[in-house]
Amino acid sequence: MSKIREMDLQYNLHSWSAQGSINPQVITKAEGIYLWNEEGKKYYDMSSMLVNANLGHQHPKIVQAIKDQVDKLAYLAPAYACDVRSLAAKKLVEAAPDNMSKVFFTNAGAEANENAIKIAKMFTGRNKILSTYRSYHGATAGASMLTGESRRQYAEPGIPGFVKFEGPYPYRAPKQVKFESEADVTDYYLEILENTLIYEGTDKVAAIFFETVVGSNGVLIPPKGYYEGVREMCDKYGILFVCDEIMAGFGRTGKMFAFENFNAKPDMITFAKGSTCGYAPLGGVIVTDKIAKHFDKNILGAGLTYNGHPLGCAAAIATLDAYIEENVFENVDKQSVVLAEILEDFKEKHACVGDVRYIGLFSMIELVKDKTTKEPMVPYGKDPDGVMAKIIGMLAAEGFLTYKMHNMLAVSPPLIITEKELRDAMKIMDKVLDSVDNMVK
Ligand SMILES: Cc1ncc(COP(=O)(O)O)c(C=O)c1O
Repeated sequence: MSKIREMDLQYNLHSWSAQGSINPQVITKAEGIYLWNEEGKKYYDMSSMLVNANLGHQHPKIVQAIKDQVDKLAYLAPAYACDVRSLAAKKLVEAAPDNMSKVFFTNAGAEANENAIKIAKMFTGRNKILSTYRSYHGATAGASMLTGESRRQYAEPGIPGFVKFEGPYPYRAPKQVKFESEADVTDYYLEILENTLIYEGTDKVAAIFFETVVGSNGVLIPPKGYYEGVREMCDKYGILFVCDEIMAGFGRTGKMFAFENFNAKPDMITFAKGSTCGYAPLGGVIVTDKIAKHFDKNILGAGLTYNGHPLGCAAAIATLDAYIEENVFENVDKQSVVLAEILEDFKEKHACVGDVRYIGLFSMIELVKDKTTKEPMVPYGKDPDGVMAKIIGMLAAEGFLTYKMHNMLAVSPPLIITEKELRDAMKIMDKVLDSVDNMVK
């Protein structure tokens, strides 16, 4: 075993794993959409790491911006102002809808949601927070409670006041439910939400959080009209509508923010990941002018030593500029057509592919044992025989790095990928799915 891996396993605790069952790759070089391990093997980064390296690795402008900022002003406490903190906030607010006016910076995604929860409670004076079962919002105490999927359970019993409901996922709707149109799907899931609000007390609910497009839990794309309905419901009951854009934002779906695809108008946006592509940590909450004004007189009871960290802000400015200057979202539009065609082909020809879902360069392959019964490849939140881990290993052996969740494989490459790279990488996936077909036959 290499010295680096040996030391890593001796001293590092890794996320979401039994430590004895892991074998981390040692990466020594990264560039564009590629990574290299210490033996010089080259990999496609087909999940943009954790769906954050949107501009790929070692983008020269972001790297340079961080270097310049280190020389100029490496740190500044939150009570002061500096050029990059002001400019990063201005750029983010300008990228958001017109009714948004200020940003509260955090280190990353969980803290963004953590602070959005507090802002919602302070602004409304209410204490309940709703979110969907199939969602991930982070691993700190409050963000874990917001999280609907199985990783929430490590933090339970947790904090009172967090309520879950089922968000749109027609592929796995109860068997008795037959949808005849997209409008049916919208109505069905809006009814579930409104019933939940009524049962919980509409005047007790401060906010409803959505991952605008649910990411790691399946790239679940809301049906047409769903967010318009949510907006109406929120207005009717005085509830804040929060879009978690941490994974879906910054071009992943082809738009700056994913809600632009759905005519959704949130009251708060939480962001991280693609705001700096991971080169330096920076997340935050963008709020409407109405919420911002509330805190002109009322104390904003929130704070972080690294609020608006200059290195994160410098990285964000360079990242936001690069998205526009390099026409990155246009590339997403172009490559998304290629990806969609490849995924539809997989669904058609592979016995193990139950469903594929995609928007922009954000996609998921849902593996099943049987297409007709839709029995998932592994039970929800479990992989007792390590089947999904084995598939990830087969992909990695062929040079395709990504992650799995439940019975699903993520495909979310850096937004700068070319058509040739995308087609070549997906040939590897095709080959591995052939082997998985044999496993289920
Ligand atoms: C939608 C969403 N929200 C929040 C988070 C948490 O972000 P972080 O890991 O930066 O705390 C993630 C992380 O994957 C995410 O995908």
